[in-house]
Amino acid sequence: MASKVVSWLDERLGLVGIYGTVLDRKVPKVNWWFTLGSASLFLFTMQAITGIFLTIYYVPSPDHAYDSIQYIMTGVPFGWLIRGIHHWGATLMVIFVFAHMLRTFFFATYKYPRELTWLTGVVLLLCTLGMGFTGYLLPWNQKAYWATTVGTEIPGTIPVIGPFITSVLRGGPDLSGVTLARFFSVHIWVLPAVIGAMIFVHMYLLIRLGISAIPDKED
Ligand code: HEM
Repeated sequence: MASKVVSWLDERLGLVGIYGTVLDRKVPKVNWWFTLGSASLFLFTMQAITGIFLTIYYVPSPDHAYDSIQYIMTGVPFGWLIRGIHHWGATLMVIFVFAHMLRTFFFATYKYPRELTWLTGVVLLLCTLGMGFTGYLLPWNQKAYWATTVGTEIPGTIPVIGPFITSVLRGGPDLSGVTLARFFSVHIWVLPAVIGAMIFVHMYLLIRLGISAIPDKED
C-alpha cells in the first residue's frame, strides 16, 4: 500500500529523482571540518523553530517586551528551555558559520567554479551577524538598550552619511518603541527571508558543483 502511494506520488512529483540528486550524491573523501556547513544549517533550523515558538508570547512593545520575556522564563511551560536554546543557539551559530567560512577559506574552495558559493556565504555571514544585532535589543532590558545605543552610534561616525544611517536604524534621534518595532520586524521577517533565499542558492550551487576534495600534494 505504502509503495503504491510512493509510486503514485513519484510519477507526478519525481520524488525519487529529487532524493537521488539532493541526498544520495557522491561526495569525495572528506573530514570533520566539512561538517561545519551542515552544523550551521542545523543551527539555523533550530533558531527558526525556537524563534517561532518565542513569538507566541513575546510582545514587541516598550511597555510589554521585558515582562513578556519574564513570563516566557517563569510562566510558560518549558519557555526557559526554548529561550535558552534560542539564546545559546545564536552564539553557536555565529561561531559555526565563522568556523565554516575559515574552513572554506583555508581549503581555498572559494576559487573557480565556487565563487558564487563563497559570495552567497558572505551574505549569510553578514545576515547571521545582523540576526544577533537585532535580536539583542528584543529583551528590552538595560543591557539590550545601552548595547544597541552604542551599536547604532558606531555607523554614525561614517563621514557624511553616518548620522543618516543611525537615524534610519533607530527610527529617530534616540532608541524608542519605533526602534524596537523595526528591529523585531527585521529580526523575524527580513533577515530570515534573506537567509532562507541565500541558503537555497548556496545549496543549489553545492549540489550543482559538488563539494571539493581535500587538496593533495599534486594540487
Ligand atoms: C548560514 C550559513 C551557512 C550555511 C547553512 C552553509 C552551508 C553549507 C554546507 C552544508 C556546505 C557543504 C558542506 C561543507 O562544506 O561544510 C557548504 C559549503 C560551502 N560554503 Fe557554506 N554555509 C553557510 C555560510 C557560509 C559562509 C559564511 C561562507 C564563506 C564566506 C560559505 C562558503 C562555502 C563554500 C565556498 C562552500 C563549498 C565548499 C566546498 O566545495 O568544499 N558558507 N556550506
